[in-house]
Amino acid sequence: MAYESIIVEIEDEVALIRLNRPDALNALNKQLLDELAAALTEADQNDKVRCIVLTGSEKAFAAGADIKEMADKSFVDVFTEDLFTGPTEAILRVRKPIIAAVSGYALGGGCELAMTCDFIIAAENAKFGQPEINLGVIAGIGGTQRLTRFVGKAKAMDMNLTGRFMDAAEAERSGLVSRVVPTGKVVAEALAAAQKIAEKSQISVRAAKESVNRSYETTLREGLLFERRLFNALFATEDQKEGMSAFLEKREPQFRDK
Ligand code: CAA
Repeated sequence: MAYESIIVEIEDEVALIRLNRPDALNALNKQLLDELAAALTEADQNDKVRCIVLTGSEKAFAAGADIKEMADKSFVDVFTEDLFTGPTEAILRVRKPIIAAVSGYALGGGCELAMTCDFIIAAENAKFGQPEINLGVIAGIGGTQRLTRFVGKAKAMDMNLTGRFMDAAEAERSGLVSRVVPTGKVVAEALAAAQKIAEKSQISVRAAKESVNRSYETTLREGLLFERRLFNALFATEDQKEGMSAFLEKREPQFRDK
């Protein structure tokens, strides 16, 4: 499928999806969101892809939902169209890992999109925020929910009520991002992380992703049970035998996703 608002490149088993509306700082309009959902679904189904990196430009990962597109909508319009639910659900359905490589602004829906990925690697110039309060609305795709779970109530309230931005150092300190790298290096760092993931057994990669995500949906006791069941189940795979034999034989494992 040909895309206009995103660019997709596949190399070394990693799909790099770049948001590409530079004139609007990658604001998330309907076309971009639909294309992103389609590209992620395609990458998830493509046997040549083992991990996905989502990025924007150096100035902006995404400056939020497209305010020009939303400004004149009525309650009935937004309620009926429910623009963000479909794409968000499509992202959550992806079983391969998605790394967000965030440079510049990740605001409103942009911050929420990054948080919907599996983890975030940030450039030193990254700025995260939920400034919807300045527009007379609130966050609509997780800015009051995911952010609160990631950084805690105090910082989530602060960001959602004042609209202030969090820089990369604070985001790392607060647990919103996994690493901070020099600006200009963030895509390379995310691709290197993706390639590391691509080398693993994809069965255990999926199990790890499912299990970590489960911790956000359930109680600790249920989550631990879910994890234990998956851990036990992986002993039915050839890759478990290969991984452990390779360790004992002091060689690199040759995983076959079986
Ligand atoms: N929607 C539409 N267009 C946007 C946009 C957005 N979210 N953010 C930036 N743009 C456009 C600007 O309108 C401008 O276009 P024009 O040249 O045609 O006027 C262009 O991108 C460049 O932006 P600026 O001139 O404003 O650039 P700047 O460097 O001075 O400021 C910024 C950068 C601080 C990110 C500023 O653009 C900004 O505050 N953007 C809006 C951020 C925001 O409020 N996001 C939340 C959106 S609502 C939301 O996301 C709801 C939800 O949860 C689902």
